[in-house]
Amino acid sequence: MSGPLTLGIETSCDETSAAVLRGDRELLSHTILSQDVHVIYGGVVPEIASREHLRLLDGVVDDALVRAGVGLDDINLFAVTAGPGLIGALLVGVAWAKGAAWALDRPVVGVHHMEGHLFAVNVEHPEAEPPFVALLVSGGHTLLLWVPAWGDYRLLGETRDDAAGEAFDKAAKLLGLPYPGGPSIEQIAHDGDATRHPLPRPLLASTTRPGDPDYYDFSYSGLKTALRTRIQRIAEGELTVEVPHLAASFQEAAVGVLVEKTARAVQELNCPRVLLGGGVANSRTLRARMMERIPGVELFHPSARLATDNAAMIARAGRFRFDRGEVAGMDLSARADLPFPGLARPDHRVC
Ligand code: KG4
Ligand code: ZN
Repeated sequence: MSGPLTLGIETSCDETSAAVLRGDRELLSHTILSQDVHVIYGGVVPEIASREHLRLLDGVVDDALVRAGVGLDDINLFAVTAGPGLIGALLVGVAWAKGAAWALDRPVVGVHHMEGHLFAVNVEHPEAEPPFVALLVSGGHTLLLWVPAWGDYRLLGETRDDAAGEAFDKAAKLLGLPYPGGPSIEQIAHDGDATRHPLPRPLLASTTRPGDPDYYDFSYSGLKTALRTRIQRIAEGELTVEVPHLAASFQEAAVGVLVEKTARAVQELNCPRVLLGGGVANSRTLRARMMERIPGVELFHPSARLATDNAAMIARAGRFRFDRGEVAGMDLSARADLPFPGLARPDHRVC
């Protein structure tokens, strides 16, 4: 195969990652370094993340280039996450990409991190093409989108407080389970009975209809509070045995809401193709419940490495933006609150 080489760089949170992509989706190499240092704090410490990116990025890019069997001056395009994310962390990647692009006189594109998550599945599955309903669920975002075409994104629903992954992380902390919370909860919930501690499923009232903002939006803070209240009611000596049950209840409630809202979108838009993205897409429970709730759904999810933060998805999304003629200048900067490109309120259509 042949095609231009894109170097993707991702440093928006606590993964330092670089990838070399040939053409649209031939992944020549993909290096991801997760910053374990945050584990001792039970969450990401922004200043430490920036310093770690600074320390690690040169080595991570070198590793990706060596594995791809190419040199830096073979790269045709630099694609870097420009936001949203931790500003100090983002700046490390953006400054690196701009420096390389300037030194080699190559183009650079700034990529929206969530558009990256949207493109992650497409790196591995060329048939994961619009139109589809997309559920992007990470530690920082919970977005339900209608995607009639790449670059044309209609926002159906979003979280009003905590993101889905963040809710898993906070619930794990309450249960004394390690960070990141999603995988720890899923693992221990395996031995739990989800019916022992019923928890609420926020914003699922049966009276809501399309057009009512509650219909597609998410809220996780009430669920977290309900879990805390449950934990407080359990005698200290009995908590350990109840943790798997509490974890299972929380997981079923958190996942149940995601699945139900996605099912509503599939029904309203008459589009049985669903694409998952973001770290929470790694949840086997989410995928299983999705298949049970939406019979016949064509469900696409990224592999584990492409679900969590990674540079391959950034390279893929950057390639798409570049092909549309979007090139950044040397004034490219990182933005913690970068708006999602092409995102609009919905104009429901049938696929
Ligand atoms: O996309 P990601 O790597 O980083 C952000 O951009 O935030 O997502 C990380 C999030 C964490 O909150 C983690 O708890 C969650 O994804 N996660 C899961 C699972 N695996 C990772 N949540 C639920 N179930 C899982 N199996
Ligand atoms: Zn992410």
